[in-house]
Amino acid sequence: MARRKKIYEGKAKILYEGPEPGTLVQYFKDDATAFNAEKKAVIEGKGVLNNRLSEFFMTGLSAVGIPTHFIRRLNMREQLIRQVEIIPLEVIVRNIAAGSMAKRLGMEEGTPLPRPIIEFSYKDDKLGDPMVPEEYIIAFGWASQQDLDDIVALALRVNDYMSGVMYGVNIRLVDFKIEIGRVWDGDFQRLVVADEISPDSCRLWDMETGDKLDKDVFRRDLGNLTDAYTEVARRLGVMPSNA
Ligand code: C5P
Repeated sequence: MARRKKIYEGKAKILYEGPEPGTLVQYFKDDATAFNAEKKAVIEGKGVLNNRLSEFFMTGLSAVGIPTHFIRRLNMREQLIRQVEIIPLEVIVRNIAAGSMAKRLGMEEGTPLPRPIIEFSYKDDKLGDPMVPEEYIIAFGWASQQDLDDIVALALRVNDYMSGVMYGVNIRLVDFKIEIGRVWDGDFQRLVVADEISPDSCRLWDMETGDKLDKDVFRRDLGNLTDAYTEVARRLGVMPSNA
Protein backbone atom coordinates (compact mmCIF):
# COMPACT_ATOMS: atom_id res chain seq x y z
CA MET A 1 0.00 0.00 0.00
CA ALA A 2 1.26 3.46 -0.85
CA ARG A 3 2.54 5.37 2.13
CA ARG A 4 0.01 7.94 3.24
CA LYS A 5 0.92 11.51 3.82
CA LYS A 6 1.03 12.35 7.50
CA ILE A 7 -0.68 15.67 8.13
CA TYR A 8 -0.19 15.96 11.88
CA GLU A 9 0.97 13.87 14.82
CA GLY A 10 -0.35 14.67 18.28
CA LYS A 11 0.17 13.02 21.64
CA ALA A 12 -2.49 10.32 21.21
CA LYS A 13 -3.44 10.45 17.52
CA ILE A 14 -2.05 10.82 14.02
CA LEU A 15 -3.89 12.44 11.12
CA TYR A 16 -3.22 11.20 7.58
CA GLU A 17 -4.45 12.47 4.26
CA GLY A 18 -7.81 10.84 3.50
CA PRO A 19 -8.91 8.93 0.41
CA GLU A 20 -11.11 11.74 -0.88
CA PRO A 21 -10.58 15.51 -0.83
CA GLY A 22 -11.88 17.05 2.37
CA THR A 23 -11.32 13.87 4.39
CA LEU A 24 -8.63 12.71 6.80
CA VAL A 25 -7.82 9.41 8.46
CA GLN A 26 -7.54 9.68 12.25
CA TYR A 27 -5.29 6.99 13.78
CA PHE A 28 -5.52 6.28 17.53
CA LYS A 29 -2.17 5.49 19.17
CA ASP A 30 -1.63 3.58 22.41
CA ASP A 31 0.38 6.47 23.85
CA ALA A 32 -0.90 8.05 27.02
CA THR A 33 0.37 11.39 28.27
CA ALA A 34 -0.55 13.52 31.23
CA PHE A 35 0.50 16.83 32.76
CA ASN A 36 1.30 18.21 29.32
CA ALA A 37 3.37 15.13 28.39
CA GLU A 38 5.54 15.18 31.53
CA LYS A 39 4.18 11.69 32.25
CA LYS A 40 4.17 9.24 29.34
CA ALA A 41 3.43 5.57 28.75
CA VAL A 42 2.32 3.18 26.07
CA ILE A 43 -0.86 1.45 27.15
CA GLU A 44 -1.60 -1.54 25.00
CA GLY A 45 -5.08 -1.48 23.52
CA LYS A 46 -5.95 2.11 24.49
CA GLY A 47 -6.03 3.27 20.86
CA VAL A 48 -8.39 0.48 19.86
CA LEU A 49 -10.75 1.27 22.73
CA ASN A 50 -10.75 5.01 22.09
CA ASN A 51 -11.35 4.52 18.36
CA ARG A 52 -14.43 2.44 19.17
CA LEU A 53 -15.66 4.67 21.98
CA SER A 54 -15.22 7.86 19.99
CA GLU A 55 -17.10 6.22 17.10
CA PHE A 56 -19.88 5.30 19.52
CA PHE A 57 -20.22 8.81 20.98
CA MET A 58 -19.86 10.67 17.68
CA THR A 59 -22.42 8.41 15.98
CA GLY A 60 -24.79 8.93 18.89
CA LEU A 61 -24.36 12.69 18.70
CA SER A 62 -25.16 12.67 14.95
CA ALA A 63 -28.25 10.58 15.65
CA VAL A 64 -29.58 13.31 17.95
CA GLY A 65 -28.78 16.03 15.43
CA ILE A 66 -25.42 17.26 16.75
CA PRO A 67 -22.97 17.56 13.85
CA THR A 68 -19.52 15.95 14.16
CA HIS A 69 -16.49 15.38 11.97
CA PHE A 70 -16.94 11.59 12.09
CA ILE A 71 -17.70 9.77 8.82
CA ARG A 72 -17.02 6.09 9.53
CA ARG A 73 -14.66 3.76 11.30
CA LEU A 74 -12.16 2.15 8.94
CA ASN A 75 -10.52 -0.47 11.15
CA MET A 76 -9.36 -1.18 14.70
CA ARG A 77 -7.37 2.01 15.03
CA GLU A 78 -8.55 4.32 12.28
CA GLN A 79 -11.58 6.36 11.40
CA LEU A 80 -12.43 8.50 8.41
CA ILE A 81 -13.25 12.07 9.37
CA ARG A 82 -14.10 15.32 7.63
CA GLN A 83 -11.26 17.75 7.38
CA VAL A 84 -12.18 20.74 9.49
CA GLU A 85 -10.52 23.95 10.55
CA ILE A 86 -9.92 23.39 14.26
CA ILE A 87 -10.75 26.36 16.47
CA PRO A 88 -7.69 26.61 18.78
CA LEU A 89 -9.71 26.12 21.96
CA GLU A 90 -10.33 23.28 24.36
CA VAL A 91 -13.95 23.56 25.41
CA ILE A 92 -14.39 22.07 28.87
CA VAL A 93 -17.80 21.36 30.38
CA ARG A 94 -18.02 20.56 34.09
CA ASN A 95 -20.94 19.12 36.05
CA ILE A 96 -19.03 18.27 39.23
CA ALA A 97 -15.92 19.94 40.64
CA ALA A 98 -12.80 17.89 39.91
CA GLY A 99 -9.30 18.19 38.50
CA SER A 100 -7.97 21.67 37.81
CA MET A 101 -11.18 23.44 38.87
CA ALA A 102 -11.22 21.76 42.29
CA LYS A 103 -7.53 22.62 42.72
CA ARG A 104 -7.87 26.23 41.54
CA LEU A 105 -10.81 26.99 43.80
CA GLY A 106 -9.85 24.78 46.74
CA MET A 107 -13.05 22.78 46.30
CA GLU A 108 -13.46 19.20 47.35
CA GLU A 109 -13.51 16.90 44.32
CA GLY A 110 -17.02 15.56 43.82
CA THR A 111 -18.85 18.75 44.81
CA PRO A 112 -21.81 19.11 42.43
CA LEU A 113 -21.86 22.43 40.55
CA PRO A 114 -25.01 24.57 40.59
CA ARG A 115 -25.20 24.26 36.81
CA PRO A 116 -22.93 23.02 34.03
CA ILE A 117 -19.95 25.37 33.75
CA ILE A 118 -18.08 25.89 30.51
CA GLU A 119 -14.52 27.08 30.34
CA PHE A 120 -12.05 27.58 27.51
CA SER A 121 -8.35 26.85 27.22
CA TYR A 122 -6.13 28.11 24.44
CA LYS A 123 -4.71 25.07 22.62
CA ASP A 124 -0.96 25.42 22.89
CA ASP A 125 1.16 22.60 24.28
CA LYS A 126 4.17 24.84 24.86
CA LEU A 127 2.07 27.05 27.12
CA GLY A 128 0.28 24.13 28.78
CA ASP A 129 -3.15 25.07 27.30
CA PRO A 130 -3.84 28.09 29.53
CA MET A 131 -7.40 28.86 30.52
CA VAL A 132 -8.65 31.97 28.72
CA PRO A 133 -11.68 34.23 29.17
CA GLU A 134 -14.10 34.93 26.29
CA GLU A 135 -12.65 38.42 26.08
CA TYR A 136 -9.29 37.02 24.89
CA ILE A 137 -10.95 34.66 22.41
CA ILE A 138 -12.80 37.48 20.70
CA ALA A 139 -10.03 40.09 20.97
CA PHE A 140 -7.45 37.73 19.44
CA GLY A 141 -9.88 36.58 16.74
CA TRP A 142 -9.83 32.86 17.63
CA ALA A 143 -13.64 32.90 17.43
CA SER A 144 -16.37 35.51 17.02
CA GLN A 145 -19.06 36.26 19.60
CA GLN A 146 -21.52 34.38 17.36
CA ASP A 147 -19.14 31.40 17.21
CA LEU A 148 -18.84 31.44 21.01
CA ASP A 149 -22.61 31.49 21.45
CA ASP A 150 -22.86 28.55 19.03
CA ILE A 151 -20.01 26.70 20.77
CA VAL A 152 -21.67 27.09 24.18
CA ALA A 153 -24.99 25.80 22.79
CA LEU A 154 -23.20 22.87 21.12
CA ALA A 155 -21.19 22.03 24.25
CA LEU A 156 -24.35 22.00 26.41
CA ARG A 157 -26.11 19.71 23.94
CA VAL A 158 -23.11 17.37 23.97
CA ASN A 159 -23.22 17.47 27.78
CA ASP A 160 -26.93 16.52 27.82
CA TYR A 161 -26.39 13.65 25.42
CA MET A 162 -23.22 12.34 27.09
CA SER A 163 -24.60 12.69 30.63
CA GLY A 164 -27.73 10.77 29.64
CA VAL A 165 -25.88 7.96 27.91
CA MET A 166 -23.47 7.55 30.81
CA TYR A 167 -26.25 7.77 33.42
CA GLY A 168 -27.90 4.85 31.62
CA VAL A 169 -24.87 2.67 32.40
CA ASN A 170 -24.43 3.89 35.98
CA ILE A 171 -21.59 6.28 35.25
CA ARG A 172 -21.52 9.95 36.19
CA LEU A 173 -20.16 12.35 33.60
CA VAL A 174 -18.09 14.64 35.83
CA ASP A 175 -16.54 16.76 33.09
CA PHE A 176 -15.18 16.52 29.56
CA LYS A 177 -13.30 18.36 26.88
CA ILE A 178 -14.30 18.78 23.26
CA GLU A 179 -12.77 20.51 20.30
CA ILE A 180 -14.77 22.31 17.66
CA GLY A 181 -14.09 22.51 13.93
CA ARG A 182 -15.37 24.79 11.22
CA VAL A 183 -16.68 23.29 7.99
CA TRP A 184 -17.34 25.58 5.06
CA ASP A 185 -20.22 25.16 2.59
CA GLY A 186 -19.32 27.99 0.27
CA ASP A 187 -19.49 31.11 2.42
CA PHE A 188 -21.63 29.39 5.02
CA GLN A 189 -19.85 28.08 8.11
CA ARG A 190 -20.99 25.17 10.27
CA LEU A 191 -19.46 24.19 13.60
CA VAL A 192 -18.96 20.51 14.29
CA VAL A 193 -17.63 18.44 17.18
CA ALA A 194 -14.14 17.30 16.17
CA ASP A 195 -11.10 15.45 17.60
CA GLU A 196 -12.30 12.63 19.87
CA ILE A 197 -14.66 11.90 22.72
CA SER A 198 -13.29 9.10 24.86
CA PRO A 199 -12.28 8.33 28.45
CA ASP A 200 -9.06 10.21 27.62
CA SER A 201 -11.07 13.43 27.43
CA CYS A 202 -13.82 12.84 30.01
CA ARG A 203 -14.02 12.19 33.74
CA LEU A 204 -16.26 9.20 34.33
CA TRP A 205 -17.08 7.98 37.84
CA ASP A 206 -18.96 4.81 38.68
CA MET A 207 -22.19 5.97 40.33
CA GLU A 208 -22.12 3.31 43.03
CA THR A 209 -18.48 2.84 43.92
CA GLY A 210 -17.10 6.21 42.79
CA ASP A 211 -14.36 4.32 40.91
CA LYS A 212 -12.69 6.36 38.22
CA LEU A 213 -13.09 4.95 34.72
CA ASP A 214 -11.08 7.56 32.81
CA LYS A 215 -7.59 8.91 32.26
CA ASP A 216 -7.23 9.89 35.92
CA VAL A 217 -6.47 6.17 36.45
CA PHE A 218 -3.24 6.84 34.55
CA ARG A 219 -2.65 10.41 35.78
CA ARG A 220 -2.99 9.35 39.42
CA ASP A 221 -1.67 5.76 39.22
CA LEU A 222 -4.99 4.26 40.33
CA GLY A 223 -4.73 0.95 38.47
CA ASN A 224 -4.97 -0.45 34.98
CA LEU A 225 -6.18 2.06 32.40
CA THR A 226 -7.14 -0.53 29.79
CA ASP A 227 -9.31 -2.31 32.34
CA ALA A 228 -11.10 0.96 33.15
CA TYR A 229 -11.75 1.81 29.47
CA THR A 230 -12.79 -1.78 28.75
CA GLU A 231 -15.35 -1.51 31.54
CA VAL A 232 -16.81 1.66 29.97
CA ALA A 233 -16.92 -0.07 26.57
CA ARG A 234 -18.50 -3.19 28.07
CA ARG A 235 -21.27 -1.24 29.79
CA LEU A 236 -22.03 0.68 26.61
CA GLY A 237 -22.05 -2.52 24.54
CA VAL A 238 -19.03 -1.34 22.55
CA MET A 239 -16.79 -4.36 22.38
CA PRO A 240 -13.40 -3.86 20.73
CA SER A 241 -13.09 -7.59 20.20
CA ASN A 242 -15.85 -7.27 17.58
CA ALA A 243 -13.86 -4.72 15.59
O1 C5P B 1 -7.59 18.96 34.09
P1 C5P B 1 -8.98 19.53 34.07
O2 C5P B 1 -9.73 19.33 35.33
O3 C5P B 1 -8.99 20.97 33.61
O4 C5P B 1 -9.74 18.70 32.94
C1 C5P B 1 -11.13 18.86 32.69
C2 C5P B 1 -11.57 17.81 31.68
O5 C5P B 1 -11.00 18.07 30.41
C3 C5P B 1 -11.13 16.39 32.05
O6 C5P B 1 -12.18 15.49 31.67
C4 C5P B 1 -9.91 16.15 31.20
O7 C5P B 1 -9.75 14.78 30.88
C5 C5P B 1 -10.22 16.97 29.97
N1 C5P B 1 -9.01 17.52 29.35
C6 C5P B 1 -8.55 17.00 28.15
N2 C5P B 1 -7.43 17.51 27.56
C7 C5P B 1 -6.76 18.52 28.12
C8 C5P B 1 -7.21 19.08 29.34
C9 C5P B 1 -8.34 18.55 29.94
O8 C5P B 1 -9.17 16.09 27.60
N3 C5P B 1 -5.68 19.01 27.51
